[in-house]
Amino acid sequence: MRLYKNKRSNIHRNGLSASTNIKKGQRIIQYKGKKISHDKAETDPKYDNDKEIYLFNLNKQYDLDGDFKFNTARLINHSCNPNCEVFDYNRQLWIFAIKNIKKDEELTYDYGFSFDKTDYKQYLCKCGSSNCVGYIVRKGSRWRISREAVIRQKVSSREATR
Ligand SMILES: C[S@@+](CC[C@H](N)C(=O)[O-])C[C@H]1O[C@@H](n2cnc3c(N)ncnc32)[C@H](O)[C@@H]1O
Ligand SMILES: [Zn+2]
Repeated sequence: MRLYKNKRSNIHRNGLSASTNIKKGQRIIQYKGKKISHDKAETDPKYDNDKEIYLFNLNKQYDLDGDFKFNTARLINHSCNPNCEVFDYNRQLWIFAIKNIKKDEELTYDYGFSFDKTDYKQYLCKCGSSNCVGYIVRKGSRWRISREAVIRQKVSSREATR
């Protein structure tokens, strides 16, 4: 039985939601795509930052381009408080539940974007979680955003007192 269905998302356009209650640890859907080199991802205009991103980092050499109709998992949106995670399962990428998920709840995972000081602001996050940092940045790097905000605040209050 399929554990997911398409839905209109509150986060961004289309997404996937649970078609039934899902238990933590259940395997939900495979993330399929075509393997491309990092070089191609960086130089081919198909992967420009101003377009929607369907790239999945595989390792130091390759990304997986998931921008294909056959890859239904491409519709899963990012959340700062996700209920799924992507794991390697028999050399395939699969979306697993990391929490118990109720029927109709939107499926989300952490896109794992690294923090890049110059361009993280391009990726606004609208996940709506109480811990949302406002940008799509991986969990381990989100503290950098609050630090940036503190530095910005200090600079502007210093300028205001000049
Ligand atoms: C792989 S697509 C996800 C499916 C997309 N919602 C759709 O309808 O095609 C990735 C794109 O969805 C959007 N997206 C995903 N998660 C988001 C979030 N938390 N906040 C804002 N936009 C998001 C961004 O535009 C991102 O580049
Ligand atoms: Zn968020």
